[in-house]
Amino acid sequence: MSKRKQTEVAIEKIEEQEKYIELIHRMNEDEFNKTGKRKTFYIQTYGCQMNEHDSEMLISMLESIGYSQGISEEMADIVIYNTCAVRENAELKVYGNLGHLKSIKKKRPGMKIVVCGCMMQQPHVVEEIKKKYNHVDLVFGTHNLYKFPELLSNVFDREDILVDVWDVDGEVVEGLKSNRKFDVKAFVNIMYGCNNFCTYCIVPYTRGRERSRLPQDIITEIENLVQNGVKEVTLLGQNVNSYGKTLDEKDRIDFANLLRKVNEINGLERIRFMTSHPKDISDEVIYAMRDCEKVCEFLHLPFQAGSTSLLKKMNRHYSKEDYLKIVEKAKKEVPNLAFSTDIMIGFPGETEEDVNDTIDVVKKVRYDSAFTFIYSKRRGTPAAKMENQIPEDIKHKRFDRVLEEVNKISGEVNSEYLNKIVEVLVEGSSKKRNDIMTGKSRQNKTVNFIGGGENLVGKLVNVRITDPKSFSLNGELVEVIR
Ligand code: 5AD
Ligand code: SF4
Repeated sequence: MSKRKQTEVAIEKIEEQEKYIELIHRMNEDEFNKTGKRKTFYIQTYGCQMNEHDSEMLISMLESIGYSQGISEEMADIVIYNTCAVRENAELKVYGNLGHLKSIKKKRPGMKIVVCGCMMQQPHVVEEIKKKYNHVDLVFGTHNLYKFPELLSNVFDREDILVDVWDVDGEVVEGLKSNRKFDVKAFVNIMYGCNNFCTYCIVPYTRGRERSRLPQDIITEIENLVQNGVKEVTLLGQNVNSYGKTLDEKDRIDFANLLRKVNEINGLERIRFMTSHPKDISDEVIYAMRDCEKVCEFLHLPFQAGSTSLLKKMNRHYSKEDYLKIVEKAKKEVPNLAFSTDIMIGFPGETEEDVNDTIDVVKKVRYDSAFTFIYSKRRGTPAAKMENQIPEDIKHKRFDRVLEEVNKISGEVNSEYLNKIVEVLVEGSSKKRNDIMTGKSRQNKTVNFIGGGENLVGKLVNVRITDPKSFSLNGELVEVIR
């Protein structure tokens, strides 16, 4: 089936859901007319931006069928956990929360409990839920999110658990509406899945093979967002640098050219993207970042580990030197470029020497920010079966050593902003004080500033930094740009 036909099929499938949306909506309206109260849902999202974006779509569906978003799971009519499988901690939290819901559901049997997302793509997880958490009403995976209204309509008068998980090579249905959390910023998926099979990672098993969306579909989506007031988009994919590889020849463009096309969209102010795999970032992408005025000076480039031999065992396909060369090239071409990264500590076989290599990369690149993770064994991945798994106490000691260096450097990088003027896209007022406005700089730093009000939301302003902190910058408004 050609890609264009896939899009057509997707539209039909989404339209099929309309009747379920109407059915539940009618039920909810009857209830509202009787009780004067709206039913509520509570959603908890774990993991990455992809999951956040999936949750936005679930929220949009729930609102269109008459539910309003509540703040507590105790009182909600529907509780949804959109789960992540990347690390064990997030999985344990889901099991813990499900256990807690058991007694709540005993008191409120009408409550519906839904679990979805990456964890559900693993058969042993679904078995565990069926066995130990049979108060759950609905389980679905990452490939049939669009079917949520139909699945939900089927659980209302059902006693047992409904499970509908498609395998990883199932068809892609896209084009769902999403409830964007910010009017100013939006996520846009440009591709799904991953083909890289890093040996520690579960994602290729839960999100399936790499599939790119058609460039025209992406552009149309962004144009619509801009018409609705969005000023900044983040292009999302597990590995955006290999965008386009799965497209038919007649549609195919690469990521650098996609950036150039998105850069031409009138009214859009800023473009970000993530995640970039170092093995696939081309010079063309760096040149596009340099040439396109809307592409922000921010590059999230996970390196995972500094040791070339460990990188090999991780199946990452680059060496420490390759990585540092890319950083050097990008710094040279794109002035004021900020870097962030993902670092993994405690991969099987890691030595103290390997950790020194990781710290060496941190020192050489001088990251603005870094996400530091302790390796977590994932069932079904090659690394889970590797010898020399690192004991927990050693992992934690190494983690603290790396984190200390990361924090020291990002604090130093931030302190260099004192008295500098940065461009900020204003998102709203600060959570703590409504006379302080907040937004992000082009380098993705949170900037809080005085001297403005709610009327600045969605505007680009210049802010002078008067008080740089370790994780944010404080300052005062200089001028409104537009
Ligand atoms: N354990 C710990 N961290 C992991 N990541 C992926 N898989 C694992 C794992 N098994 C981290 C990587 C990746 C980020 C999204 O999550 O650093 O870049
Ligand atoms: Fe996981 Fe590697 Fe794919 Fe990233 S590139 S999602 S770490 S397999």
